[in-house]
Amino acid sequence: MKALVYHGIKDVRVDTVEDPKIEDSRDAIIRVTSTAICGSDLHIYNGSIPQPRPMVLGHEFMGIVEEVGKGVGGKLKVGDRVVVPFPVACGTCYFCNHALPGHCENSNPEHYGPEGGLLTEKGGALFGYTDLYGGYNGGQAEYVRVPYADYGPRVIPDSLTDEQALFLTDIFPTGYSGIDWGEVKGGETVAIFGSGPVGIMAAKSAWLRGAARVVIVDTLQYRLDKAQHATNCETILWENAKDVVEQIRAMSGGRGADVCVEAVGFEPDRNLLDRAKAVVNFEKGSPKVLEACMSAVRRGGIVTVLGVYATPYDNFPVGQFFDKGIKIVGGQAPAHKHIDKLLQYVIEGKVVLDDIITHRLPLSEAAHGYDIFRNKKDNCVKVVLKP
Ligand SMILES: NC(=O)c1ccc[n+]([C@@H]2O[C@H](COP(=O)([O-])OP(=O)(O)OC[C@H]3O[C@@H](n4cnc5c(N)ncnc54)[C@H](O)[C@@H]3O)[C@@H](O)[C@H]2O)c1
Ligand SMILES: [Zn+2]
Ligand SMILES: [Zn+2]
Repeated sequence: MKALVYHGIKDVRVDTVEDPKIEDSRDAIIRVTSTAICGSDLHIYNGSIPQPRPMVLGHEFMGIVEEVGKGVGGKLKVGDRVVVPFPVACGTCYFCNHALPGHCENSNPEHYGPEGGLLTEKGGALFGYTDLYGGYNGGQAEYVRVPYADYGPRVIPDSLTDEQALFLTDIFPTGYSGIDWGEVKGGETVAIFGSGPVGIMAAKSAWLRGAARVVIVDTLQYRLDKAQHATNCETILWENAKDVVEQIRAMSGGRGADVCVEAVGFEPDRNLLDRAKAVVNFEKGSPKVLEACMSAVRRGGIVTVLGVYATPYDNFPVGQFFDKGIKIVGGQAPAHKHIDKLLQYVIEGKVVLDDIITHRLPLSEAAHGYDIFRNKKDNCVKVVLKP
């Protein structure tokens, strides 16, 4: 089959690789009909999350069930059209039973451990997301093996197109998690940092949960325009952290936002000084957006962290955390926890997801897709690949 293979930093290619096979009785094989490139894939593409051997990438995919193992039972049958949540999770362990599928104890036996940290011990696994995260091949491919297929995949009704349903795999549940962790109940001012696919999904989710005001911050005007168009939110163009924080405070009686959602991660746009600091401190990337969230949130407010952070950082503002009484929650989103409710919202037309797609490409042009998404060319916001 054809698949998008990571070979090294900024080197991804569509290669011919072996077809996946059923390896365990709970596996299914899915013929992928639509798949997307995620900001998380870019951390691998950039070389910031290491992957030493070639690997098929992709954790946002949907398709048709081709084959099921004997242990899948009646949950899934050949011909079903499904979306697959991005964490690989067993559905039976302590963490799966506590709605924390990203921390599954069984899906990543090689690298599992309670300590955590990018290069040390991890929780569960993700599709197509490095050996550290389980070493599973991903879904930017014609076919993909889905373990624990009686737990993850959700059948999609024929009334929805692929594009209407695809983002239930990751970015919609992820954006929603940022708002759910933020305990948004209605009436809040929510400030979202990052107007990429994840930030825009967080904005849609904030409205679903009854936020009174939603503002998105980004360094790129075209991304803000997309967010404004797709979510009718307010926007702030990031020129520097101080101005952004002042504008958010001005919007909220001088107090700061009730909830700040970090949807940028550890690789924000950085100037030379930021880059030099990271080298001196042996840090990967920069926590500067997270720090801006800590300043922009009100006392007693909540900062939720969807953007990926890979290493510890010196001088993390723990004093501000304590003095302001900030609550911080983040991590890989528990997609399984929210997917059924969110699918229902899509079916009912309460939310539209496909309006963020800017590029539709055949799988054969996936490398070009990575380039335009990574380098923000051609006003790219979200690339969908068709195998
Ligand atoms: N927690 C999870 O489960 C989960 C799931 C999916 C994605 N992610 C992570 O979410 C983050 C965003 O993903 P995405 O798909 O939206 O990718 P993206 O890279 O397209 O989005 C990041 C956005 O941040 C903007 N940005 C850069 N510097 C900024 C700054 N200083 N201030 C404000 N905005 C700035 C960029 O212009 C871009 O629009 C990534 O780190 C990704 O790995 C996490
Ligand atoms: Zn993703
Ligand atoms: Zn589990």
